[in-house]
Amino acid sequence: MRRNLRFIFRGSLVELNEIDPTRMLLEWLREARHATGTKEGCNEGDCGACTIILARWQDGAVRYQPVNACILLLGMVDGCEVLTVEDLAKGGALHPVQQAMVRHHGAQCGFCTPGIVMSLVAAYLAEPRPVSRETIAECLAGNLCRCTGYRPIFDAAAEALADPVPDDPGIGVAGKAAALQVLADGRDLILGHDDRFFAAPAQLDTFAEMAASHPEATLVSGATDVGLWITKKLQDLPKVIALNRIEALKTIAEDETTLFLGAGVTHTAAMPALARIDPDLDQLMKRFASRQVRASGTIGGNIANGSPIGDLAPALVALGCTLHLRHGAESRDLPLEDFFIAYGKQDRRPGEWISGLTITRPGPGSHFRCFKISKRTDEDISTVMGAFRIELDAERRIVSARIAFGGMAATPRRAAKAEAALVGLPIAAPAEWAVALRALAEDYQPISDMRATAAYRSRVARALLGKALTEIGGARSLTRIQPRGPVTEAAHV
Ligand SMILES: Cc1cc2nc3c(=O)[nH]c(=O)nc-3n(C[C@H](O)[C@H](O)[C@H](O)COP(=O)(O)OP(=O)(O)OC[C@H]3O[C@@H](n4cnc5c(N)ncnc54)[C@H](O)[C@@H]3O)c2cc1C
Ligand code: FES
Ligand code: FES
Repeated sequence: MRRNLRFIFRGSLVELNEIDPTRMLLEWLREARHATGTKEGCNEGDCGACTIILARWQDGAVRYQPVNACILLLGMVDGCEVLTVEDLAKGGALHPVQQAMVRHHGAQCGFCTPGIVMSLVAAYLAEPRPVSRETIAECLAGNLCRCTGYRPIFDAAAEALADPVPDDPGIGVAGKAAALQVLADGRDLILGHDDRFFAAPAQLDTFAEMAASHPEATLVSGATDVGLWITKKLQDLPKVIALNRIEALKTIAEDETTLFLGAGVTHTAAMPALARIDPDLDQLMKRFASRQVRASGTIGGNIANGSPIGDLAPALVALGCTLHLRHGAESRDLPLEDFFIAYGKQDRRPGEWISGLTITRPGPGSHFRCFKISKRTDEDISTVMGAFRIELDAERRIVSARIAFGGMAATPRRAAKAEAALVGLPIAAPAEWAVALRALAEDYQPISDMRATAAYRSRVARALLGKALTEIGGARSLTRIQPRGPVTEAAHV
């Protein structure tokens, strides 16, 4: 068991023997190290002013990822190099991204600029070339420019990202690969004492023991929810067990009929495998939060939080998904839809945790669609999220339907009545679907809140089911933001 937190900052090893379990990385940067180039804007992961880059040794290479320092716990950077905007310029020469920002007048108020630069540098270091304007938009979706200066920022990004991916990043510690490999030691970490600690086990069995012996501890995977409990709800979390160092929870395994995702797989890592299931999942994931949030946030965290407006749950419930849970040495499985019992209540006892989930791929004759409705295209939580898996027989009649919605009830939930009403109907006869569309009113009695009224949600749900059936029936949808890509060979690996 290691009792010191280790990471690289400004080219040197930092070792901390004591930290508060709720200390955030942004606080440490600004208050302990006066690294004030990294700004605090919203303090909740939305605006990107605090964007930094984490470099870590992963799968035999150095990987760079932009993350929001405001909602990342300091203890979670063990084994990483923390790169901030101050690391970029060398001997008075600006980084190519910074130079392009200056040349195109992309640097405006100075408050958002450091975060924008760091998002673009992360892309500069890792994004395969050529980089389209659509990809630039995706890179910047988590960076709010409050003066609406995006046009010059896009121009600067397009110029900088026309350079090839550099062999040497030219920033941070020299001999990065070797330095990061030394830090990736696979040893369990604990700081503090029995009644107040931050633990980041690297071994699955140590984690299982810790979670069972401290059932009251807060499990933290990516901290993109838990971080806000600290920064916005001002909660004190005396015992924190972080999962982000456990390689065994990051497994992705695909075969012809299923996809297994470990609970600790980040959204960024899961995206290619999800996109191979269906192009709608690709579109959904690109609109899931931002690159910064997707790089930290995990599949397990998105399910465990039980949010009625989480994006993955409806999609995975509609596809058909088994959740794997573990407590100490005991494991159990359950259909994902049964995990969500009521608002804020999941089928998970104290000390039990999600180890992963297995998703069923749609086979031949099976059609999947999912649609996220939110006020903004980017970086917004769903108002309504609908997902549909429809099986057709050789005569193109519906033989089974799985429909799940988020934002329509206190939990993500299936539409049992509408599903039953669809069975036996011909997909090519829209007039006959009316009974199923009407049945949605029996399945869901949504509430009005700041995102939408109950009437709006009900209307949208009906429209989305109609849209899914229309598309599956072979007609073109006129209301897609982006055309649906073809279901590639890879979608049925
Ligand atoms: C700016 C912003 C935008 C966002 N946009 C979206 C969005 O578009 N769509 C969406 O669905 N969500 C969104 N979220 C919410 C959040 O990012 C996701 O829910 C994310 O997947 C949470 O994962 P995490 O690993 O960060 O969870 P954490 O914050 O680490 O944990 C969340 C909860 O799950 C528990 N937990 C974590 N892992 C496990 C486990 N293995 N077993 C048991 N319990 C566990 C924790 O104890 C906690 O209760 C957004 C968040 C932010 C800050
Ligand atoms: S300060 Fe706004 S995302 Fe961190
Ligand atoms: S760069 Fe800060 S408002 Fe645009």
